[in-house]
Amino acid sequence: MASMAETPAIAATAATAATKEATESTPLTATTPPRAATSTPRVPIPPRGVDYRGKLVLAPMVRSGELPSRLLALHYGADLVWGPETVDHSLIGATRRINPRTGMIEYTRQPSHAYSPAHANANNEAGSTTESVIYRLDPVREKGKLVFQLGTSDAGRAVAAARVVAADVAGIDVNAGCPKPFSVLGGMGAALLREPDKLAGILEALAREIPPEFGIGVSVKIRLLETAPETEALVRRLVRTGITGLTVHCRTTPMRPRERAIRGQLRMVRQVCHEAGVACLMNGDVESRDQADELVREFGVDGAMIATAAEKNPSCFRSRVDGGLAGWLEVAQRYLRFAMEVENRIANTKYLLAQMIPGKASAYKEVQRCRSYTEFAQALGCDDGGMRQLARETDRMLSLGEFEVKRAPKQKNKNNNINNNNNNNNNNNQKGQQQQGGQHESKKRKREEEKEAEQIEGAKTRDESAKRAEVAGPAPVTAPAAVAV
Ligand SMILES: Cc1cc2nc3c(=O)[nH]c(=O)nc-3n(C[C@H](O)[C@H](O)[C@H](O)COP(=O)(O)O)c2cc1C
Repeated sequence: MASMAETPAIAATAATAATKEATESTPLTATTPPRAATSTPRVPIPPRGVDYRGKLVLAPMVRSGELPSRLLALHYGADLVWGPETVDHSLIGATRRINPRTGMIEYTRQPSHAYSPAHANANNEAGSTTESVIYRLDPVREKGKLVFQLGTSDAGRAVAAARVVAADVAGIDVNAGCPKPFSVLGGMGAALLREPDKLAGILEALAREIPPEFGIGVSVKIRLLETAPETEALVRRLVRTGITGLTVHCRTTPMRPRERAIRGQLRMVRQVCHEAGVACLMNGDVESRDQADELVREFGVDGAMIATAAEKNPSCFRSRVDGGLAGWLEVAQRYLRFAMEVENRIANTKYLLAQMIPGKASAYKEVQRCRSYTEFAQALGCDDGGMRQLARETDRMLSLGEFEVKRAPKQKNKNNNINNNNNNNNNNNQKGQQQQGGQHESKKRKREEEKEAEQIEGAKTRDESAKRAEVAGPAPVTAPAAVAV
């Protein structure tokens, strides 16, 4: 589906708006004639960059925002997609390659542990290389639509990391809202909200270096501060850094994801952004395109961002007139196809399917038991030969199911182990290493899968108890948050 802002329809609504207040915004689904020139200032959008105005976008989500999820969101009409936050350190020094089988661009790094072909396969690698994929993107379907989100606490590192990916993406966004200890203790995410000069310094450095070199824009995603004056002071500082867009997650840092988003400061944030010509996206409890349209009208923002609702059902990007929300089975089957096309890591695929399939559906438990793409296809009733063939091919590439590297029998001769660890070029030793690697990795993979299954179960239970709590009243303050990003 084309971006609403690129259709004559959306521009049309904007023309009507042009006669109104300069700060009034364009609904995401529109039905009136093109925008006339207004006196509203607008920071220039770099030639390869994207204007966030009139867009409904997929939020950055660690784990849930990997490539197949983004492709699915685009399929159902998301105008832009944010990738999961990636920390600057992990990107600096990464290698870029094109996966010859899938055509996807992959950024890879050497893992910290020893070589193991079994590990390479388990980690979704191309061929028998040893790198782990830290970021994967689709150069065709995501072209001009992918915003890369950085986790950073340092201007120099931010620029160095952005340079690694900037030629492949349509924008660089800085995460200034993640409250997780990993981020905050590292001075990243929400920690930056308390250090406006540092955050502004990072954005200024990015805005100075990246747009001229790569022709894309820089943006930031923040949370609300406790009071409107505090938030206003922060936003006033940030909109002068050269950014083209600002997303405000309408929760404060201590707020749990389950707490309703608060919108009391939203008009003020939008106003400050608009005075500086910066696009303002709202985020927090936006659940569908139709609702986003209403919120955009009500608060005068330029667009909206959806996270949790899209994690469960990305067809929330489709308006009612275009078909509205699709059933979970259709969504899960499409997701599976995208996951196979890009050779997504099986544990991630399982996790996402668990978000999409209702806990009560029999497929939910079946999917939990699956250990290969072939089994996923069966559990989701994908009967056509094409899907089954693709599943088998994906299993072959990722050494899953019938192609899994079998556990080697226990080594009796300890000397063999010592020799194997010498890492020389002897063929027998290499074979021994592969067997050991297979054995070790197979155990490790099993542990990871069990852990992942527990997490999914835990999340589902929390999810369902949260649903019950919503009916019963507000959750106790001590209730664990499913995801506290
Ligand atoms: C699974 C998950 C992962 C998230 N990861 C990120 C992230 O990498 N970067 C970020 O800025 N926000 C992250 N968030 C926060 C969302 O982008 C969004 O701000 C938040 O969920 C509120 O939107 P919602 O009410 O639509 O869920 C994450 C949220 C979830 C649920």
